[in-house]
Amino acid sequence: MFRAAVTNSRSNVGRHALNARVCCPVPRSQAPCFFSPPFIEGRRFISAYGYTQAKALVYSKYGEPKDVLQLHKHSISPPNGTEVVLRLLAAPMNPADVNQIQGTYPSKPPFQMTLGTQEPSAVAGNEGAFEVIATGSGVKNLAKGDWVIMKRTGQGTWRTHAQMDETNLIKVENREGLTPLQIGTVGVNPVTAYRMIKDFCEWDWMRAGEEWLIQNGANSGVGRAAIQLAREWGLKTLNVVRERDTPDATEKLKKDLYDLGATKVVTESELLSREFKGMIHEFTRQGKEPIRLALNCVGGKSATSLAKTLAPGSHLVTYGGMSKQPVTLPTGLLIFNDLKFSGFWVSKWGDKNPQLKENTIMDILQLTRAGKFKDIPVEKVKWSWDTDGPELAQGVQGTLSGFRSGKGLFTYEGGD
Ligand SMILES: NC(=O)c1ccc[n+]([C@@H]2O[C@H](COP(=O)([O-])OP(=O)(O)OC[C@H]3O[C@@H](n4cnc5c(N)ncnc54)[C@H](OP(=O)(O)O)[C@@H]3O)[C@@H](O)[C@H]2O)c1
Repeated sequence: MFRAAVTNSRSNVGRHALNARVCCPVPRSQAPCFFSPPFIEGRRFISAYGYTQAKALVYSKYGEPKDVLQLHKHSISPPNGTEVVLRLLAAPMNPADVNQIQGTYPSKPPFQMTLGTQEPSAVAGNEGAFEVIATGSGVKNLAKGDWVIMKRTGQGTWRTHAQMDETNLIKVENREGLTPLQIGTVGVNPVTAYRMIKDFCEWDWMRAGEEWLIQNGANSGVGRAAIQLAREWGLKTLNVVRERDTPDATEKLKKDLYDLGATKVVTESELLSREFKGMIHEFTRQGKEPIRLALNCVGGKSATSLAKTLAPGSHLVTYGGMSKQPVTLPTGLLIFNDLKFSGFWVSKWGDKNPQLKENTIMDILQLTRAGKFKDIPVEKVKWSWDTDGPELAQGVQGTLSGFRSGKGLFTYEGGD
């Protein structure tokens, strides 16, 4: 918890301040430090001793975000050695973040006392864009003003500020032309789409423009990324979305995806209808253009219907279960069509392939810079220093409810 004493020319008080890592104002007796600078209510400040005041959305038990998320105020000591202090720019609210808070997600960040919370807690959130605001003397690859993302998920990104070791961060080398939204949402959804398309199908690149992938949840963050990557790589996409309240709203959603480069967009009702076989026949020029990959984040009947469209020897990859229904497969597809069924989890994949993950991210950011990768629609939740905990938690609450106009996104606007 405490780092070794450093000698400097400051007063004793200053030296103590430099030695403490993260301090919490209350209760003082439980704070993991022997000195903590005073807090000024209502605004944040960097103290004379280089402390940064911070707030984090933490949870100490599992449940609904509105019931268990709490805004915890603490202060962060000046960075030592290879540590850096970060300020949040933007962090999305992904379905997995909420599952994690509910305790239903397989990866569970440990509950700890590191931030001086009253009970052992974890900081919520798995991805986001941060700006470096201070660096330790041993930091080699980062400088004040750099934009970074976390190398791994599970580090806790729903916080105004964080102190991290530089080895846990990916620097965005050339941030020109990029926004916090683009950087803060690149590491999970686009990487998932990218790897599923590249790693689960041996595309015949000589047949560019004649092979298809089909996907449900096509308007999700992953789905939108898949459409644009497939377009770039010469693959056709058949995209399934759920109907909206009105035909106009459904058409508008379809148009959104056509604007991204979708080849065909159909509704879930069309997918489940008797006529769908005929539609597929027509789309694929009487089967001359095979559907070779299916991406499933819904499950249930939707997944079964995707599988039925696949050419023999093809692959269905399940990466989400938004309908909470199991994936059921007709036996014949396995025996006679030699279909393959897999799952994909980007967190595990990224932990095993850190360099490839970084390369994948840089590749996607390059496409973004070139204007070939459009922003996802978002519902911004502005986070200023004075925004209260319940308001932030309420912003998270709708993440799993369907038919949203955009993904929730925290944007921190509280300055350094
Ligand atoms: N395995 C991995 O590594 C990995 C990585 C990233 C994401 N994921 C998973 O991929 C899925 C999409 O994530 P995202 O961040 O891209 O999503 P998102 O942008 O938040 O969008 C949510 C998507 O889920 C759909 N949806 C919501 N409730 C549904 C329901 N009851 N039945 C059918 N569809 C429903 C929405 O469709 P409507 O607009 O019609 O409601 C929308 O397409 C999630 O399950 C997520 O956990 C997995």
